Amino acid sequence: MTDAAEVAPDAPETDDLMEKVVRLCRHRGFIFPSAEIYGGFRSTYDYGPLGVNMLRNVKNAWWRAMVQQRDDVVGLDAAILSPPAIWEASGHLATFTDPLVDCRNCHERWREDKIEGVCPNCGSRDLTEARAFNLMFKTFAGPVEDEGHVAYLRPETAQGMFTNFTNVLNTTRKKPPFGIAQIGKSFRNEITPQNFVFRTREFEQMEMEYFVPPDESQKWFDYWLGERLNWYLDLGIPQDKLRLRHHDPDELSHYSRGTADVEFLFPWGWDELEGIANRGDFDLTAHATHSGERLDYFDQSTNERYTPHVIEPAAGATRTMMAFLLAAYDEDEIGGEPRNVLRLDWRLAPYQVAVLPLSKKETLEPLAREVLRRVQPHFMCDYDTTQGIGKRYRRQDEVGTPWCVTVDFDSLEDNAVTVRDRDSTDQVRVPIDDLVGELQGRGRTGPG
Ligand code: GAP
Repeated sequence: MTDAAEVAPDAPETDDLMEKVVRLCRHRGFIFPSAEIYGGFRSTYDYGPLGVNMLRNVKNAWWRAMVQQRDDVVGLDAAILSPPAIWEASGHLATFTDPLVDCRNCHERWREDKIEGVCPNCGSRDLTEARAFNLMFKTFAGPVEDEGHVAYLRPETAQGMFTNFTNVLNTTRKKPPFGIAQIGKSFRNEITPQNFVFRTREFEQMEMEYFVPPDESQKWFDYWLGERLNWYLDLGIPQDKLRLRHHDPDELSHYSRGTADVEFLFPWGWDELEGIANRGDFDLTAHATHSGERLDYFDQSTNERYTPHVIEPAAGATRTMMAFLLAAYDEDEIGGEPRNVLRLDWRLAPYQVAVLPLSKKETLEPLAREVLRRVQPHFMCDYDTTQGIGKRYRRQDEVGTPWCVTVDFDSLEDNAVTVRDRDSTDQVRVPIDDLVGELQGRGRTGPG
């Protein structure tokens, strides 16, 4: 298990990819262990100046593909705090559980399905019978802490899309097939959070519920498998590190008629990035039954009323960001010198452009700042004047910045700058007036 809190700043170098990425995340300001000054709070993480940019880019790329570039999907941002009625109807109160055992020897608590009958802490086989442990975080809304005031932090964003089905239908005049998309935090009291931000108790999801006529559900399930796989490929996950895995019938969730996972080859093996499920009419029917409200669609062209079926691509934003980091991490040599480089697609990189005055001398500063001001409206930029230019290039390579723009003394004469490419390290001279267009052109063609 790798945990950012376990990698001390002065720990020795390691060949392990996971350790290297965790170390990079911590030392370059992508992801910090949360509450670190108080010794950390296990399995919670804070996204630092670079991480917050990259996570936002992951979510924006998803929103762009799933909402902006479609006319059949609209967005939603539902409440995180929710009443028990929602989770009663969804089945989470009854079934969103993990089987939990206690070790009678060392009193550690484990998920039964993860330990094969042996306590990973002390090796004892003296374990209690499994008990169902509900993964939802429970709290109280208002000043009274009794059963009548119980509220839950949502364990998935999905239910907000079902409970707002009629609101969205009536206000947008969409008709099936159409989707509702949402990005936001979800909370699960995971018994064994692990592998850095792969499984945490607080995480972000990117989910879309696509409502279809029942007889079209298989067609749309197949369609979304293809769309979602392509999204990861387009943003730079290599084909040989990505696969679709169809669930066996005994693996299916209580609501699912068919599920396939998009899996990534993590350092510990293939594991889930996203689940794509054919949920049938389970959710709308369950909420209609429990709420007494009608959640269906009247098709005026056929004079028929029906409950749409749902295809759900459900991805994790934080987990996906980690996969992009692992896939992008690389080491090579430039002029005989080793370098670490994140070969991130430019759309995901925390900074797309770094503006670097060649020297700290004040004569370069006004022009460098003018260049920065011109580029900032179009790209997320870093501005760095510290240390020699070689070191600054390396620092930008290490955090994935695709383009460095260097302002030198010639720039004062020719009004041009040097643009350096992260992957090839090629440098070209570009007039300052053409710089934004040049960078935008590179954005259209790569890297990535
Ligand atoms: N609405 C269906 C649903 O929530 P899920 O497979 O439980 O399905 C979807 O979750 C995605 O959310 C997962 O594929 C994963 O990427 C992410 N996810 C789930 N639990 C997570 C956790 N504890 N930490 C980080 N990401 C998680």
